[in-house]
Amino acid sequence: MTERDLHADVAEILLTEDEIGAKVRDLGARITADHAGRRLTLVSVLKGSLPFMADLMRAIDLPVRIDLMEVSSYGGASTESSGLVRILKDLSASIANEDVLIVEDIIDTGLTLNYLMRYLRGKNPRSIKVCALLDKPARRLVELDIDYIGFEIPDEFVVGYGLDFGEIYRNLRFVGVLRPEAYES
Ligand code: PRP
Repeated sequence: MTERDLHADVAEILLTEDEIGAKVRDLGARITADHAGRRLTLVSVLKGSLPFMADLMRAIDLPVRIDLMEVSSYGGASTESSGLVRILKDLSASIANEDVLIVEDIIDTGLTLNYLMRYLRGKNPRSIKVCALLDKPARRLVELDIDYIGFEIPDEFVVGYGLDFGEIYRNLRFVGVLRPEAYES
């Protein structure tokens, strides 16, 4: 794929760069207030959470440690969740007795987060919470408590600000709805 006009593949901008920026600052302030006097371990789930993690950590005014996991729930370029969760990259350090905040770009079926919560609870953190930028409740298959949610979005195929289709579009500064022609071609 060469010379592709990323912006032309977007039918509609759902969340602008400014809207995302304001929301991330708001989430950071809430997380800071809720954890005053404590230190947090932010666990980001690659790769989609990368821009959100980078912005959110700088919006939190607390001592934070960061760690990165990579899991896979979607098969290749498919737009449907396979329900399979594989750990591609594990934590680098112990989270025993740490206050952990999982940082996710999107909760869709919830299968990934459901698995991750169980996996991370087994490592005996002091507490574990979740911050997700985007929530697509229409697609939920398992019930979950999400402590911090940026935006509820409709059941549309979204890309940008970390979210991909076929590994591209992650570098768009906004979240947009992908034109069906872009994933049907
Ligand atoms: C996305 C997202 C979540 C998961 C959510 O990751 O970052 O981890 O899917 O879907 P679910 O609620 O249906 O489980 P993806 O597997 O697409 O990987 P990526 O972050 O590398 O794009």
